[in-house]
Amino acid sequence: MTSSDGLALLILAAGKGTRMRNDRGKVLHPLAGRSLIGHVVDLANQVQADRVAVVLAPGMDAVEAEVRRWRADSSIALQTEALGTGHAVHAALDLIDPQGTVVVLFGDTPLITAQTLEKLKAVRERDSSAVVVMGMRPPGPHKYGRLKFNAAGSLIAIVEHVDADDDLRRNALCNSGVMAIDAARCRELIEAIEPQAGNGEFYLTDIVALAVAKGLDCQAIEVSFEEGHGVNSQNQLAQANSILQSRLRERLLEAGVIMQSPETVQLAFDTRIMPGAEIEPYVVFGPGVEVGSKAKIRSFSHIEGSQIGDCAIVGPYARLRPGTELGADSRIGNFVETKNAKIAQGAKANHLTYLGDCEIGTNSNIGAGTITCNYDGFNKSKTMIGSNVFVGSNTALVAPVNIGDGALIGAGSTITKDVAADGIGLSRSAQELRQGAAPLLRQRLARKKTLPKG
Ligand code: UD1
Ligand code: MG
Repeated sequence: MTSSDGLALLILAAGKGTRMRNDRGKVLHPLAGRSLIGHVVDLANQVQADRVAVVLAPGMDAVEAEVRRWRADSSIALQTEALGTGHAVHAALDLIDPQGTVVVLFGDTPLITAQTLEKLKAVRERDSSAVVVMGMRPPGPHKYGRLKFNAAGSLIAIVEHVDADDDLRRNALCNSGVMAIDAARCRELIEAIEPQAGNGEFYLTDIVALAVAKGLDCQAIEVSFEEGHGVNSQNQLAQANSILQSRLRERLLEAGVIMQSPETVQLAFDTRIMPGAEIEPYVVFGPGVEVGSKAKIRSFSHIEGSQIGDCAIVGPYARLRPGTELGADSRIGNFVETKNAKIAQGAKANHLTYLGDCEIGTNSNIGAGTITCNYDGFNKSKTMIGSNVFVGSNTALVAPVNIGDGALIGAGSTITKDVAADGIGLSRSAQELRQGAAPLLRQRLARKKTLPKG
């Protein structure tokens, strides 16, 4: 193997995915915070592939944008008619350099790992094989293509389920669809595929028999069925999520994150949690979350796009939306929602509060029911709160507004003007007090209640 052995990923995703039973393109369905195709394309970054080519059908503009989001220099090949997996690879032949290894992946098979991809490439290069197929043993009945070996144990063909005889169907090792191909041989093998007599489709799987007929080496490596798990229905998408969630949780537990009921915690593909942090049951992480060491996320919290500092405590029942930054030792309590909110070290908002487009300084205390009124129906404005500020309960802070360090806001206030450092901001209507008036009022109300209607 030399360093010039390149790696190209060729991702097939021109299929319609009708079995998902909705009009969102199949490969755009989310799995742990990113699309199926996003998972597959990002593998290219993990294994440092030189090239990524994706085969799409015309009109799949949203998929194209999603592909580029995960790898900006991806090339797109259009397959104008869905004439099979071999035909799809043919559509992308011009995008692939004729050296090194091409790995064919499917846009709907997102659980393959970077290690397996590297292994496929390494085995192909080591043995100068024409094709190395990723094999798996699916449990229960299924319709995967079967891997056919000769008496010497060499891979000689892939036979589709419908074409396999009983003997071959009993062979448990199946085609996951993923295969590494010698880039120098790719064009000649793909161009040699003949259409199927029955359906006129060009099967990529035929290249194994074609290569063997040319005296070239083909082989299979076996991986767990989970890696080859494909998504064709909502059911299979849910299964893929449960496989991926277990992987993500295991990784965190091994790294020293505390989770009493990990099976109830939903993670995103990129959730970063430092060792010693604790995640209570029933917490949901969207993408882009980092949790600091010894922080505690209490039950039923929903968190996305947020950074949570060391020793911070969040929830129960907190909602942290994108742009939230919580400093060390800060507290966000029950029924508090934050968005674009920088909350400094030691600051607290413990109950029933909306903090949007704001900055809150160190050790400030935000009382229950405080609302940053950040939106006037047209524009968003900022609320800036200094350090050691005390905001009394049920306060409306009408942005743009600044509250200086050490200021105090009286409960029930609607604050529309800036409050300077150490000032008091208070806006309340004067309270009326009528001594002994309650019994009279009660009598009057009681009389009214017993009077006949009309
Ligand atoms: C394929 C394999 C089968 C294997 C199975 C694993 C072939 C002939 N068969 O069958 O051996 O066990 O995958 O899941 O390859 N696609 C296109 N253009 C097309 C057809 C397909 O881009 O014209 C894409 C699809 O979007 C999908 C992938 O190729 O991502 C696989 O196609 P699919 O029709 O699902 O192949 P299977 O019949 O499942
Ligand atoms: Mg399939």
